[in-house]
Amino acid sequence: MTLKFVVMSDLHVMPPGELSMTLDTGARLEQAVDAVIARYGDADFCVLAGDLADLGQPAAYEHLKAIIARLPIPVHITLGNHDDRAAFLAVFGADFAAPETGKVDKVINAGGYRIVLLDSSEPGRVDGVLEASQLDWLRARLAEAHDRPVIVILHHNANALHIESDDIRILQPDGFIDALRTHPDIRQVIAGHVHLTSTATWRGLAFTTLAGGHYSCTVDQPNVPMRRLAGPGQMAFVLGTKDSTTVLFDDFIDANAEIFVET
Ligand SMILES: [Fe+2]
Repeated sequence: MTLKFVVMSDLHVMPPGELSMTLDTGARLEQAVDAVIARYGDADFCVLAGDLADLGQPAAYEHLKAIIARLPIPVHITLGNHDDRAAFLAVFGADFAAPETGKVDKVINAGGYRIVLLDSSEPGRVDGVLEASQLDWLRARLAEAHDRPVIVILHHNANALHIESDDIRILQPDGFIDALRTHPDIRQVIAGHVHLTSTATWRGLAFTTLAGGHYSCTVDQPNVPMRRLAGPGQMAFVLGTKDSTTVLFDDFIDANAEIFVET
């Protein structure tokens, strides 16, 4: 049993020719695709963990679709707070929504594992929400998995990172944690959203965030404001065996210039 997959997050793609926060996010995603072709062509699949489009325009989803068409492995997708579910489904197809929840939730079985994608986006909100129907769906998918190891991937972090943006995580995580605890072998809960690399244990579970493809954030503390950096553009590479689950971080863009924007 060996599981190998790539996670990308926070792509923030714009329509062709448009920038996001000074960055050409389409070109950055092209570099990510090049990295997958060069290094992870034998992976089982790639997950896009939300904030696919910066402003949710249909033209941005068309741009995204054209770029990821070069990926040599299957692609599984869920959404983030920058996404527009209706625009996404119009471009990618209504089949991406789970019938039971109406959100872009999905289950994948590979390499002896079950991988669960949850759509934590909610129109008009920056923080993350998992609705009651999704928690019911999650419990059912976990029950089906029996003792198979499980990795959960969603856009928003549920755990506090003790930074200012903790106020835009999943603010009511108890139902999510309770659902996860119905399964005996949750290996990882992987998120994006914070544009920051982190690992944590919380309530007996392992949580990871990857910095993703857009700008990255420095760690803010009282009197230490967050800074936006042009790099890294980062993806995660996940390796699963029967008794180990490893998350490696691949900085496919290694820039370090600070970005200044007028606010
Ligand atoms: Fe983002």
